[in-house]
Amino acid sequence: MKIEKLTCHIGAEITSVSLTEAAHDDGLFEELRAALLAHKVLFLRDQDLSRADHVAFARRFGALEDHPMLGSDPDHPGLVQIYKDETSPPDYFENSWHCDATWRDAPPMGCVLHCVACPPVGGDTMWTNMAKAYADLPDHVKATIAPLKARHSIEATFGARLPEDQRHALKARYPDAEHPVVRTHPETGEKVLFVSSFATHFTNFHTAQNVRFGQDFALGSAQLLAYLIGRAAIPEYQVRWRWTPGSVAIWDNRSTQHYAVADYAPTVRRMERASIVGDKPF
Ligand code: SIN
Repeated sequence: MKIEKLTCHIGAEITSVSLTEAAHDDGLFEELRAALLAHKVLFLRDQDLSRADHVAFARRFGALEDHPMLGSDPDHPGLVQIYKDETSPPDYFENSWHCDATWRDAPPMGCVLHCVACPPVGGDTMWTNMAKAYADLPDHVKATIAPLKARHSIEATFGARLPEDQRHALKARYPDAEHPVVRTHPETGEKVLFVSSFATHFTNFHTAQNVRFGQDFALGSAQLLAYLIGRAAIPEYQVRWRWTPGSVAIWDNRSTQHYAVADYAPTVRRMERASIVGDKPF
């Protein structure tokens, strides 16, 4: 297996590996798992990956989960179809910096995304290293956010485009989650900045220390949240991948965010994603 770093802080391309083999080979799988922890996103090209092998490979990390707003392959539960074509409206979901499904109490630990079809140019995906984004914060910001928790909502994001009754039904099924603003990666121990576009507000900011006379005392809570969410957009923390059919990205959803660049309408882009159930962040 050859591993070549793609940037200084995130992402590596793996060559001379078949994921179909890795689905059934303990040693190979463990090498890939170690590489994922080291590089946060792994990229492979020219994989001849059937849907069954895609699911089998991803399931080595853990159980898979479906998505309430995106369809799954009926024959392969857990394989979410992110399909766009000439008729898709240009208002995509994935073109904002986000960590997948943080509106769940236990968001996915990672994902395996397979490109089935893509435009000849455009439709890249970007990832960003949120452990680096945390490490580079000024000390006074680290001290302010250490005790903070944030609310994460599917209602305010995916739900916002639904009629009101359906939006409320979505929220009843998937109530908002609350997570620490700084999580600790359960395997590497790294501290990770853990707010993205699903985060609506801090839940414990309004204390006597932070608020004077009903006003935020220093950097206000909404400004602070926007500042933290904006850290994902710093190019030095990022890697950008140009898809070709048969290429695959595997990412650690606990330490990264991603952004699917929506510059390709109206053309066909078909991606299949296996999301692996994760732990409750601490
Ligand atoms: C996602 O946001 O999980 C999908 C990324 C993509 O379609 O490139």
